[in-house]
Amino acid sequence: TPALTDPQPNAKRQDLQADTVNPGGTLTDNMGHAISDDQNSLKAGALGPTLLEDHFLREKLHHFDHERIPERVVHARGSGAHGYFELTRSLAEYTTAQVLTEVGAQTPTFVRFSTVAGFRGSPDTPRDIRGFAVKFYTPQGIWDLVGNNAPVFFIQDAIKFPDLVHSVKPEPHNEIPQASAAHDTFWDFISLTPESLHTIMWAMSDRAIPRSFDTMEGFGVHTFRLINAEGKVTLVKYHWKPVLGLHSLVWDEAQKIAGKDPDYNRRLMWDTIDAGGTLEWQFGVQLFTEEQAAGWDFDFRDPTKIVPEALVPVEIVGRLVLNRNPDNFFSETEQVAFMPSNIVPGMDFTEDPLLQGRNFSYLDTQFSRLGGPNWQELPINRPLTPPQNNQRDGHMRRTINPGRVSYYPNSLDTGSPTPDPQEGFRSHPVMMSGVKVRERPESFSDHVGQARLFWNSLTPIEREHLCRAFQFELANVETRHVRLAMLDQIERVHPVLASQVAIALGEPPRAGQTAKPGGTQDSAEEMALL
Ligand code: HEM
Repeated sequence: TPALTDPQPNAKRQDLQADTVNPGGTLTDNMGHAISDDQNSLKAGALGPTLLEDHFLREKLHHFDHERIPERVVHARGSGAHGYFELTRSLAEYTTAQVLTEVGAQTPTFVRFSTVAGFRGSPDTPRDIRGFAVKFYTPQGIWDLVGNNAPVFFIQDAIKFPDLVHSVKPEPHNEIPQASAAHDTFWDFISLTPESLHTIMWAMSDRAIPRSFDTMEGFGVHTFRLINAEGKVTLVKYHWKPVLGLHSLVWDEAQKIAGKDPDYNRRLMWDTIDAGGTLEWQFGVQLFTEEQAAGWDFDFRDPTKIVPEALVPVEIVGRLVLNRNPDNFFSETEQVAFMPSNIVPGMDFTEDPLLQGRNFSYLDTQFSRLGGPNWQELPINRPLTPPQNNQRDGHMRRTINPGRVSYYPNSLDTGSPTPDPQEGFRSHPVMMSGVKVRERPESFSDHVGQARLFWNSLTPIEREHLCRAFQFELANVETRHVRLAMLDQIERVHPVLASQVAIALGEPPRAGQTAKPGGTQDSAEEMALL
């Protein structure tokens, strides 16, 4: 394996340059033929009909006709930038992954920020979770940390993802609303999915309307495994902490900006980098063992749960700097393809049923979005370590693999690639046994505790914003029984929250309205808000 010091941040830039064509010289068609006139098609006389013979016209129109590719099924609206990741503290005690062990080495990265629900051309500032996807071009292959700006997710099992997304996307009969969760189908699904309560609290908080990309946090969400040279496992949660601190818009600003400058977040990042500035985050890890986690009242495999920092502090071990705009939006930001299954030796997955499903879904979706099995060859997606294997052919294959041998084992080509039992990726031998069932473990069953923990962590003004967000969202729900079902759900989190929202919606006061809101730090102040 090459030393990590080889791929300095410019390594990916140089790699991309191999495919970069700078404009200049004579105008040609795609086959390199010089063109004499690009303004007039070939006609039978100046007034005559256009001739089918005009191969320049046909090629130009043909290419234009096929310029569009399907947008991402979720996270279609996004903005990207290049940069580097620098490790400041070695995690060699926990992992053999070079990207996390070689202090001072700078690994090239490409990062894409996104909203979840809106179309590719939708505004930057709706209330929504933001995607925070980081591609590391490491010497051991690509590592993708495909995270969000919330540390938890709406559902516990991948089998529910298509339902979640169908509910949040515009309603299928009239394609309304374009980029907002404020509609009946979303809240219907959420009210019937109690496991979503914790993430809904994050989504209704100010965190879901970040001021800029570099004032939001990022989270890997799932717990992953790290494995060290002795084969010892440590569990890990990943964090990005913005150096500028956490800042949000207020809802009124977010709505006005959506009208005045739908590219607000994108433009800010572009202009910052264009002016020579950078965007920067600290990289943090929460490290813990399975023995430690066994004592907790939640499951580390459950993606609707955080590991509270009171239990395991976040340790800062690196930084991420974004400092270069893409040269071409389509070739970089649109064609980039992230996959949570892209991990490197020294890392492994956990049994989190959401992560397990994601590991299928991203590979699968690239096939239709990027047109076949060779999307890994696209310049932005290819690793700095050239792939060596016996995969061949397929639509748009561009690699040229010489020789007659495309299989393993073989005795005819001693130079062909072979597995490396020492350095190659090995799944950690976790002891597994069980009865084949479609069931959720008991350890995944508390949907309220951490939702309440989140509410309790907020300041009064943050609570007020959160109440108002629920009021706005549920006021847009036309079906009364859905509004009432949601009130029932949030009443389980906190009676003050439910009462505030119920009163604003003109619904009867909640039973819990007069109840003492146990566990909050400033309940008198809260009740006064009513
Ligand atoms: C994008 C599936 C959960 C973060 C996507 C895409 C799919 C998908 C199909 C489009 C990818 C593309 O076209 O390139 C799923 C499934 C999930 C799930 C099946 C659950 C079972 C999550 C979670 C997170 C997340 C929990 C955060 C930890 C993202 C991000 C993107 C994305 C950031 C955009 C990547 C980019 O910028 O290109 N997801 N997702 N997803 N997903 Fe998920």
